[in-house]
Amino acid sequence: MHKKVSFAAMEDGTQEDYDLLGTFHEASDADYADRVLGWLKALEGDSPYQISRLEHCLQTATRAENDGADDETIVCALLHDIGDHIAPGNHSQIAAAMLAPFVSEKNLWIVKHHGLFQGYYYFHFTGEDRHARERYKDHPYYQDCVDFCANWDQPSFDPNFETKPLAHFEPRLRALFDKKPGAYY
Ligand SMILES: [Fe+2]
Ligand SMILES: [Fe+2]
Repeated sequence: MHKKVSFAAMEDGTQEDYDLLGTFHEASDADYADRVLGWLKALEGDSPYQISRLEHCLQTATRAENDGADDETIVCALLHDIGDHIAPGNHSQIAAAMLAPFVSEKNLWIVKHHGLFQGYYYFHFTGEDRHARERYKDHPYYQDCVDFCANWDQPSFDPNFETKPLAHFEPRLRALFDKKPGAYY
């Protein structure tokens, strides 16, 4: 059982209360990587795809690694669809919000926009505009996001591809989330 703060409304909090909460949140940051791994593992299981959502994430990360991507980029590839549970339609933004304190502006932009960019491959089957991503065509990371989808995300539904297991990527994931998080706001 945790020691409790004195307040019932935040406006009544004291320095001691917020010191206590600071200690709690520091401990929570320390096991964040374990929680991320748990959310990722929850993507396991049957789906209409030929492979599970987790295997898709692992395959996307494997392709990134095979192409010589750096560790941060590989972890972004691994986690790009982790928001599927919470907000399927906005899953890109969920992953981006998780990664924001830990990754570069470029990787963040790619993760945040990959859903729209990936739409190029299927929006014409769902009554949407497959070229919607072109609204960003002058953005400095436009081509990087096109490439992420073309080379790593859209081909990663292949049951015959040699995909590395989660244990292979775990040390890099832990190293990324061990970094002191920056501002969340
Ligand atoms: Fe996605
Ligand atoms: Fe994906």
